[in-house]
Parts: sequence; C-alpha cells; structure tokens
Amino acid sequence: MRRIGLLTSGGDCQALNAAMRGVVKCLYNSGEEVELYGFLEGYKGLIYSHFRLLTASDFSGILTRGGTILGSSRMPFKTIREPDEKGLDKVEAMKQNYHKLQLDCLVVLGGNGSQKTANLLNQEGLHVVSLPKTIDNDLWGTDMTFGFQSAVGIATDVIDRIHTTADSHGRVFIVEVMGHKAGWLTLNAGMASGADIILIPEIPYDIDKICEAIEARDKKGSHFTILAVAEGAISKQDAKLSKKEFKEKLANRRYPSVSYEVAAQIEKKTGREVRVTVPGHMQRGGTPDPYDRVFASRLGAEAGRLILKDQYGFMVAYKNREIVKVPLEEVAGKLKTVDPEASIIKEAKMLGISFGD
Ligand code: F6P
Repeated sequence: MRRIGLLTSGGDCQALNAAMRGVVKCLYNSGEEVELYGFLEGYKGLIYSHFRLLTASDFSGILTRGGTILGSSRMPFKTIREPDEKGLDKVEAMKQNYHKLQLDCLVVLGGNGSQKTANLLNQEGLHVVSLPKTIDNDLWGTDMTFGFQSAVGIATDVIDRIHTTADSHGRVFIVEVMGHKAGWLTLNAGMASGADIILIPEIPYDIDKICEAIEARDKKGSHFTILAVAEGAISKQDAKLSKKEFKEKLANRRYPSVSYEVAAQIEKKTGREVRVTVPGHMQRGGTPDPYDRVFASRLGAEAGRLILKDQYGFMVAYKNREIVKVPLEEVAGKLKTVDPEASIIKEAKMLGISFGD
C-alpha cells in the first residue's frame, strides 16, 4: 500500500486538476494499492492537518475543470520558518502530519515559492515529488509550466478584442498582462495578438521611445496603437533605483499600476487618448486549453512513475521537448526570466515590435 499526499499551493492556474488526475491515474493503473490524502488550501492543509481522503471518483471528470479541487493559498517561503500566531512551528507540524499519516510521498503542485518549500521538506527528510505550475512560466529547470499556454490564450483573446475597438476609435490601448517578475506571458500574448509595443520587466522602457513608436505608427497611417504591458514592467529610471527606493516609489505612486502611469505619461507627451484594460485574474481562470490538458497529464503521469520507482526529491519538468526530472535543489530559489538577448526578442524587433528600449 502506498500512501500519497497531494497539495496545490500558491496562485492557482488552469490544469491543476488535470495534473493531479494524471498522477493518480498513473498510480491506479499500476495495479498497486494506493491511499490518497488531499491537503486543503496548499501547505496550510499540511500544517493544520486539514485533509480529505480521496478516491478515484474525486478525479473523474476533472480533466477540463479549472481551479483546484483541493483549494490553494499562498504560504510565503520567507515566513515558513517563523512560528504561526499561536507559536506553532510550521515546518515541524508539516513533518509530523506527514509521518502521522504514514505517507510515502507528498506531491506538491506549485510555483516558485512552493518549490522552495517542497525542497525544504525534501531536505527535512520527507519524500517529495513536485510539478511545475504557474501562468508566469518563470520556473527554473523547465522550459514550460502548465497553466502558461492557457493564460497566453486568454490574454491573446483580450488583446484581439481590444484591437478592433482601438482601430474603430483610433485610440492608444494598454492591456496589462499578469507577471510581476517575468515577461513570458506578456511577450507571447503580445506577439500572438500583434501588439505594437510590448513592455516586460526584463527590458526597462524609456517613455520617450514608447511615444516615438506611437507617433511613427500615426505617421504611417495607423492611428491606433496597442501596448501589452506586464504588471512588472519598469522604466529605465526606476530600474536604477535600489530595491528599497523602488518599494517606496510604488507605495507613493498615484496610479493603481504601471499601466496607468504609462498611460498618463503617453497622454501628457502625445496628447493622444489612452485607455487601459486589466484582465487580471481572468488569465488564471476557466478551463485549461487542450495543450495544457495534455501537458499537465503527461507531467502528472511522470510524477506517478517516479513515485512507483521510489524516486523522490525531484520536480517533473519539460526540457528540449522531453518530460524529465530535475532535482528540487536545482530548481528552488531560481527564476527563469526572459533573456533580452534571446532570439525571440530579436525576431519580435524584426517584426517591428517596440520594447520601449
Ligand atoms: O500565480 C501567478 C500570478 O497570477 C502572477 O502572474 C500575478 O502577479 C499574481 O499571481 C497575482 O497574485 P494574487 O492571486 O495573489 O493576486
């Protein structure tokens, strides 16, 4: 009998359920006897022993369902070693609950912070296998995370729709795309939807270059301009600030986000009418697209295979078109961001896309 715990941690994304279904189907199909424990709301469930015993029927019909059947929450890694408000040692509590249930393995579906905690638990002696989840696609060690392609599809659809109204009104439109530290989603949705200007955190922008690009389009007879702007886009001046100075600037900013600041600056410098659209959490919601359904199922199946082979301490990943395993300690604490020198950036520039740099 194998006793397996499952949890989904951090911001949700599409295909979490598909990935868990993949793990569980693989385990059941092996013919081995398995007992499944689903921890509720991420690491919180493991800390406070909130779990449900799951059966095959829990995983039936969930391939296409968005969200997560287990619920999720954020449990910042930087506070994981701090006792909770009642003085409970969270790491010890997780270890005790794992051992109390006599688990053979904990399967963690998570992004950056969650992978760090997964690595910590692995170092603390628990058997852990993790899966790369996030719409941001910013996990080190994998070329792709599940949730990303679905979110690209949604953000692309938003920009496509904005395109027609921007054209009708000859306006400048900004669509703010999720991603505070990495611009993968903005870059891909922006290119897919034919955005004219793409601003990502990895390439700090100069507002004058943005205005020049808008005016150049105008001169050519294209009276509307679409900007795809990542939540974490940053100006060249702000990129020079220390972390502390930038935090202070953000705390005092009169705009809700960078897009509104860019919009106000464009209006002031060009006199053009600018509108901002923020699709926000819609990008994480709803059913996974076909790519993510297949991809998450494959990753899940590989996680199941690792468990059956008693291979622990790995994140299942996608490298050079292969499903592989990467040691958790190699993944933890590292971000995969867009390389400003990458060929996709060069190609985008050849297509006439401005990055405001
Ligand atoms: O999970 C990743 C992400 O969607 C980021 O793209 C976004 O910046 C952030 O989470 C939003 O977090 P929250 O759901 O806590 O508002």
